Amino acid sequence: MINKPVFEKVAKKFADHFGKTHSVAAYAPGRVEVLGNHTDYNEGYVLSAAINMGTFFLAAPSPDTKCRLVAADRDEEATFDISSITPSTDMSWANYVKGVLSGLGKKGEIKNGFHGMILGNIPLGAGLSSSAALEISAGLALGELYGIRVHKKNLAKIGQAAEHNFAGVKCGLLDQISSIYGRKNHLVMTDFRTLDVENVPFAGKKAGAEACFLMCNSNAKHTLADGVYNERRAKCEEAAKFLAGVLKHPVKALRDVSWEELQQNASKMDTVAAKRAAHVVGECTRVLKGKDFLAQHKIEEFGKLMFESHESSINNFENSCEELDFIVAESRKIPGVMGARLSGGGFGGSAVILINPRDVDTATKAMSSAYIKKYGHACDIRVIKPSAGAKVL
Ligand code: GLA
Repeated sequence: MINKPVFEKVAKKFADHFGKTHSVAAYAPGRVEVLGNHTDYNEGYVLSAAINMGTFFLAAPSPDTKCRLVAADRDEEATFDISSITPSTDMSWANYVKGVLSGLGKKGEIKNGFHGMILGNIPLGAGLSSSAALEISAGLALGELYGIRVHKKNLAKIGQAAEHNFAGVKCGLLDQISSIYGRKNHLVMTDFRTLDVENVPFAGKKAGAEACFLMCNSNAKHTLADGVYNERRAKCEEAAKFLAGVLKHPVKALRDVSWEELQQNASKMDTVAAKRAAHVVGECTRVLKGKDFLAQHKIEEFGKLMFESHESSINNFENSCEELDFIVAESRKIPGVMGARLSGGGFGGSAVILINPRDVDTATKAMSSAYIKKYGHACDIRVIKPSAGAKVL
């Protein structure tokens, strides 16, 4: 769902700043993770959605090898040369674009620089993947500018490599895939081993139900770059390695382990690794169940899986926080709420609430007042509708 006023604003700013109109533009949405937490890098399954908020990237060629990149909301300009694209601590937001440019450079020839401008409406640090939206919008626009065509899945990998090598987060592919493959009223079902992507009807006639999400941003700290995300990933890999040694069939990732197999071997494992594995294996099962529930129009059953997912985050993965737990616990008391859980990396950020659109106003009021009563300030609540994926404009 493209926000026209935001696009018109950035197009005008681009012209004012660079003294010329842009020659290419792209849009990429953020994402909400609905079921399947920390399963992507374990080669498991996720149900997610592209959201109705996103980022625009506008560009034009520069006359030389220099790049000028402007973050329109910050009025900051980063400059660099195509001959030395390296991450920098200064204006770190530019690293995502540099990472993407470097990835595109491996797929085709980049002979000259660009003038680029970014503007979006995804709240930052809320766990809605504003960074993936930036990578994908930059990848599409710059790919168009340089005539470098990459398959959607490779574009997602270029975005992921930017996170790994330019931002220091060893993330999976969830955020990029969701931003690219979103579809209105549908969830994105991804198998992260094969990278098969399917759009599953979620709302409207085909889904047989009316549903949408509320995102409640706790505004609690949400920094994946500080090492906790990478540490969780390492524990999952440790668990998979152990299980590969004791199970009789090949185990490449936690995706290959069943709940029963894990239970049989958990007592022999490092306790922390066993708990992390329980979360991932449980989440993979919940995603598959959830997909079936959606096909059977059992949206309330689907919601219960979201609550279970959050419980597992609390007890097994330990990636929740007090504020998120409060939001999820409160949401259980609010009429019309069918499910709630943390969304994304965790350790802060947002909780996603599954709700019938008719109950949005009352639920928002109830959650706001409960949150203010508890913490003395509001949490940021937004209605999220599964929306179309990224595109060149
Ligand atoms: C972050 C990462 C994703 C994924 C989620 C957790 O959003 O970027 O790759 O691992 O956390 O599911």
